[in-house]
Amino acid sequence: MRITIFFAAIASLLAPIATAGADPAPSERVRRLLAEMTLEEKIGQLDMPSHGGHYDPARVAAGRTGGVLNFGSPQEIAEIRALNAQSRLKIPLIFGLDVIHGYRTLFPMPLAEAASFDPAVAEQSTHWAAVESRAAGLNLTFSPVADLARDPRWGRIVEGGGEDPMLAGLFAAARVRGFHSGGIGATLKHFAGYGAVEGGRDYAPADISEGTLRDRYLPPYRMAVEAGVDVVMTSYISLNGTPTTASRRLMSDILRGEWGFPGYVVSDMNAIPEIALLGVADGNGEAAKLALEAGVDQDMDGEVYIAELAGLVRDGSLPEAALDRAVARVLATKERLGLFDEKPFDPAAAAAVLGRADIRAASRALAAETFVLLQNKDDVLPIRPETRSIAVVGALAASQADTLGNNAARAVPAETVTVLDGLRARAPAGTRIDFVEGCDTACTSDSNFQAAAAKAAEADLIVAVLGEPQDHSGEGASRASLELPGRQTDLLRRLAATGRPVVVVLLAGRPLALSEAVDPAAAILLVWYPGSEGGHAVAETLFGDRDPAGRLPVTFPRHVGQVPITYDALPTARPGKVEDRYTSRYLDVALGPLFPFGHGLGYTHFTQSDARIAARRLGPDDRLTVSVTVANAGTRPGREVVQLYVRDVVASRARPVRELKAFGKLLLEPGEAREVVLSVPVRSLGFHRDDGSYVVEPGRFDVYLGSSAAAPLIGSVVVSPGYEAPPAGLSAERFEAGHMTVIGKSP
Ligand code: BGC
Repeated sequence: MRITIFFAAIASLLAPIATAGADPAPSERVRRLLAEMTLEEKIGQLDMPSHGGHYDPARVAAGRTGGVLNFGSPQEIAEIRALNAQSRLKIPLIFGLDVIHGYRTLFPMPLAEAASFDPAVAEQSTHWAAVESRAAGLNLTFSPVADLARDPRWGRIVEGGGEDPMLAGLFAAARVRGFHSGGIGATLKHFAGYGAVEGGRDYAPADISEGTLRDRYLPPYRMAVEAGVDVVMTSYISLNGTPTTASRRLMSDILRGEWGFPGYVVSDMNAIPEIALLGVADGNGEAAKLALEAGVDQDMDGEVYIAELAGLVRDGSLPEAALDRAVARVLATKERLGLFDEKPFDPAAAAAVLGRADIRAASRALAAETFVLLQNKDDVLPIRPETRSIAVVGALAASQADTLGNNAARAVPAETVTVLDGLRARAPAGTRIDFVEGCDTACTSDSNFQAAAAKAAEADLIVAVLGEPQDHSGEGASRASLELPGRQTDLLRRLAATGRPVVVVLLAGRPLALSEAVDPAAAILLVWYPGSEGGHAVAETLFGDRDPAGRLPVTFPRHVGQVPITYDALPTARPGKVEDRYTSRYLDVALGPLFPFGHGLGYTHFTQSDARIAARRLGPDDRLTVSVTVANAGTRPGREVVQLYVRDVVASRARPVRELKAFGKLLLEPGEAREVVLSVPVRSLGFHRDDGSYVVEPGRFDVYLGSSAAAPLIGSVVVSPGYEAPPAGLSAERFEAGHMTVIGKSP
């Protein structure tokens, strides 16, 4: 009887607030726990302290911690689990870590994986990352990053899926599925708009108009929510003047109200006290109240919920129902993750899983899917069998840390195959490999250039491993320049002056401005940070055992001054013309990008012919369907990425000059031709108005088909009537990506 009354009381407390955030009804277990918990225990669930930060073992044993982060070793995790077993209610803990591209075995960075134009690549890598993480005792990763990033100066562009909303969203969703299939929960971050920080400066504010927010920035997050992400993380920034960590509109209205997100929201690390530093709260108490009421359920190492919430509840400034609502979300998420029913954790079992041979084999194969061949003059690649000697130049060639990349979780650098290791292992017997550094990884001095060039001049071929050391990329690594770091361009020129062909293997976490490199380099193979087995994958690609089949998920500018430069810009009435001053251009940089979005070469070449639009008049429930015959016109097998772009020609607001709507990859043997069909729901061709409504306006849409964002126009369709979704929010149709089917051999 007493228990029933208690349940009723809690339900009535939850009800008024729950409707605002559309929380699912709490389970029996959650209700029971809430009824039993003291105020301190409840607040404990809302706290996630960090190793090296506010972690306090005594609080774990007292049942006053909801989860911890940055503990990575199985032994440490077992110890914390044992402490928690001493607590009164023994509510399982969240063990979170930034498993961004692997735990012990590292895979390529997320931006690199987006270059595969094959979300299955990310689904597989995250599956293996999760298998290792779970074996280590973790149950949550702080990934995927669905922050659309359109400014390469921002170092965290490497953590996301590039500049296109559909591509980034497909990859974010694939990562969620992969982490789940491998056995851990996923955290979507950093909600919302973090990728739009002003000037590409990390932690700077962002200002995004409503239409742009809904058309571009929100879709990737929503696609991850639809894929079932468990936790959502706020960001450090203020968006349109409101700290995201204090944004009720983002965390409650949009995330829960419109999208029905059932999990819990965690702040970014220390982001709750930082609300005060953003000038929107007068101290930690107000920051805590703002965050909790906005819908931020857990405090990541800010120590503010622990310090402030009890007082706020006791003095009546915060209703206990608001606290219960957050606790219920945390508990329900733990329940959904299966943490209450877990078998005891055995740290000794981890050793058999971490770095297992099949996981490393997956890393090697998946890495090769992400490489982008930017240029290949005279088909200098793949390396010809008659090559007798190769000079490998550049400290990055032998750097284990830089092969792994930033956010290396619990990778062991010594277990990493560098480009030099890979080339030595793969080079045929009789081909000499000589290594010379030339300069350090950041290339701060040219004092050894002379010696390096002299050595390189003796070889048949020079492989220069250049680009960004991993610490130039990632969090807190914004750059004002996009050039090759230090004196690398000079080194490249010196190498080219030997007269030997120079193949640049480019390590990078962002688009670089390579205008000065395209002349001296014969070929440029972008390999990002290829991970634990990266060197093998690079060598196999250079020697032609694997074909480079990646495509750019971001535009490569000629010069940093062109930023932002994305393929899906809005039109200008005066597109740039060299001969006309009063057009949209720079006086001192050539027009357009150096390499467009979607660009990438292979070791063969393809033709696309007979492009046909199935129906020219389309209603709102139809699909835009295009077929084309793709043929491998070269002498080696290879993979092509067919890309379909659409432009809404006349609308009530300016629409992008083109938007990627469907793509697909296919393997073709030499001489083989296949017909493929790309299909896009008409409902996904629309845009948002400022009131949040979504519309596909009737009228003409131009269709472009090809191998990059520079694809040619193949015709137009007319949509009539249009389609309109109410301003209840984003329509589900917007997020249905187009797809490609290979339908058979052409005659
Ligand atoms: C980053 C997050 C990360 C967190 C925990 C923060 O500084 O912004 O992306 O998940 O640290 O490591």
